[in-house]
Amino acid sequence: MKIDNGSVLITGGAGGFGGATARRLAALGARVVICDVADERGEALAKELGNGAVYVHTDIMDEASIAAAVETAAKLAPLRAAVIAHGGPPGPGPGGRVIGRDGTRLSVGVFAHAVQVFLTSAFTVTSYAAEAMSKNEPLESGQRGVIINTSSIAGFEGQPGLVPYSAAKGGIIGMTLTLARDMAPLGIRAMAIAPGTFLTFAYGAMSAEDAQAKFGPSIPNPKRMGDPDEYAQLAAHIVENDFLNGTTIRLDGAQRFQ
Ligand SMILES: NC(=O)c1ccc[n+]([C@@H]2O[C@H](COP(=O)([O-])OP(=O)(O)OC[C@H]3O[C@@H](n4cnc5c(N)ncnc54)[C@H](O)[C@@H]3O)[C@@H](O)[C@H]2O)c1
Repeated sequence: MKIDNGSVLITGGAGGFGGATARRLAALGARVVICDVADERGEALAKELGNGAVYVHTDIMDEASIAAAVETAAKLAPLRAAVIAHGGPPGPGPGGRVIGRDGTRLSVGVFAHAVQVFLTSAFTVTSYAAEAMSKNEPLESGQRGVIINTSSIAGFEGQPGLVPYSAAKGGIIGMTLTLARDMAPLGIRAMAIAPGTFLTFAYGAMSAEDAQAKFGPSIPNPKRMGDPDEYAQLAAHIVENDFLNGTTIRLDGAQRFQ
């Protein structure tokens, strides 16, 4: 699908995956709408991108904020792509193991928070973006838009202690084919990317060298963490290739969580 003269909405747009994807899609001629709560990084990126890019402060925990961001994008130009790649606020408590080493049960609140951040909010963005795309004139190819969600390899093989995160990321995998089937009559595609371990701001507390030394060796080939631009390359290819639909692509250097 051609996205020049179209708008593109990116949640977590000031982040590692989101920022790299913003650069790739702006280079393809899209007007990028960067949605994030990191105002300084978001504003700076919009300026760097040019090409009519804007930063919109968007809290993915707030449906009205998401609705407003989608409206802004659709007003700029027909919304052709939504890339959903946000993190979220910290949860209400520690833990991830259903029964912790000290015998404590994982709280329902911690589980529900992760599902809200990584799954419910992704559905919310997906549904508002799909609604806006459904009003687009179709391109000559019959396509109106594409939605790319971000899962994780933890959605396939969850590590101990990751029950809430794995459930949420598995939910992304589960809904992708159904979304594609639902939206097929509208000419809107749904895809997901399941990254392995990538050096993004999520590892911000560690230096790049320390993160590579800790995580790089567990990745078979290449023996290093992923570069966010490798995610962005795949996202841009998904946008351009109309035959990719209804599936989750692993992007992990053959990494498998134990
Ligand atoms: N980095 C990895 O190894 C990896 C692996 C698998 C999946 N993922 C997933 O990729 C997605 C993006 O993560 P990343 O690694 O690029 O992290 P990142 O920290 O670089 O980017 C996340 C962005 O989300 C933003 N954000 C935080 N709270 C928000 C809110 N309430 N509303 C809107 N935006 C908010 C942050 O400001 C940040 O810019 C996440 O869903 C993460 O689970 C990451």
